[in-house]
Amino acid sequence: MTKTMLRALAGEPLPVPPVWLMRQAGRYLPEYRATREKAGDFLSLCYTPELAAEVTFQPIRRYGFDAAILFADILLLAQALGSELWFAPGEGPRLSAITDPAQVAALRPADAIHDTLAPVYETVRILAAGLPRETALIGFAGAPWTVATYMVAGRGTPDQGPAHAMKAREPAAFGALIDRLTEATVEYLSAQVDAGAEIVKVFDSWAGSLEGADFETFAVAPMRRIIAAMRARHPGIPVIAFPRGAGRRYAGFARMTGADCVALDETVDAAWAAANVQPDGCVQGNLDPALMVTGGQRLVDETRRIVATFAGGPHIFNLGHGITPEADPRNVDILLAAIRG
Ligand code: CP3
Repeated sequence: MTKTMLRALAGEPLPVPPVWLMRQAGRYLPEYRATREKAGDFLSLCYTPELAAEVTFQPIRRYGFDAAILFADILLLAQALGSELWFAPGEGPRLSAITDPAQVAALRPADAIHDTLAPVYETVRILAAGLPRETALIGFAGAPWTVATYMVAGRGTPDQGPAHAMKAREPAAFGALIDRLTEATVEYLSAQVDAGAEIVKVFDSWAGSLEGADFETFAVAPMRRIIAAMRARHPGIPVIAFPRGAGRRYAGFARMTGADCVALDETVDAAWAAANVQPDGCVQGNLDPALMVTGGQRLVDETRRIVATFAGGPHIFNLGHGITPEADPRNVDILLAAIRG
């Protein structure tokens, strides 16, 4: 009995799509808040394998999702390459900003990340041993462009302005940063697969701010390199790519990068994606996360519409972006009933 996630990723349309939610382990769950309290802070939670595994298991126990996603963060890789990283309570991530070529040159080599990230691999091993047999285990990393936007700015930014500026002002150094991140991402994902991850997902949360030829250079090309290298090292490993905000450029993204599945954000029209993206393979998505806060009949209707629209091809049900802290945990039960009947 092959796991439903792996069947969908292999291209099989299923009568009931597999479902999991981005950020399914998170602050909307009281048990997550309790474990995070015990860990002290977010990074300690990420780097304590028993606790990171515990919060990964929590939404699986509560809801029986078809996939578990490793609990970690895309910015741990920046830390492993030598950036300082901390999370200011209530303010999101902060990093030591990279502004000049000398700082890029001073980053650690891609294969020197494993000491820092060893606890993450241990979390994966605990999960691989402890998940129910029908639940697939997803490992992940941020895409080079998205991680670079945080490393250059030293924080999250509304328009990724500092990274766009460095790309224009110091193209060689910025290109070297993208190359280092691309190599390190392969190292990182590969170690997760060796530890037991069955699927990997690459989050390019800020791909949408890349325009013209930059989309090919900084979103498509690094994703293609990562996927080709993963295929060479781990034949058959399924890859989900999430070029959030790609709009019409979602069409062809799987073909251009080799991804088995593209994750659609909530701004993409499902009927358009069924006609223009799904013919190339599995799609994941794309319910508006706001509906997990508001719930009600609209949540049921929108969920059914998305399931019906993608029913002709391979589909993994998910939100268009992460579930938010304000979401009502009972709305997840409503969502699952609407999908599974
Ligand atoms: O359940 C899961 O989805 C797995 C764990 C996971 C987290 N972050 C935990 C987390 C995953 C896959 C991520 C990915 C991630 N991290 C992305 C890409 C996906 C996206 O959301 O676009 C990005 C851009 C980050 C960077 C990051 N981490 C930011 C900007 C923030 C602050 C914003 C926020 O939501 O608080 C984080 C913190 C973070 N990462 C939290 C969690 C559960 C909240 C931390 C807390 O408990 O306070």
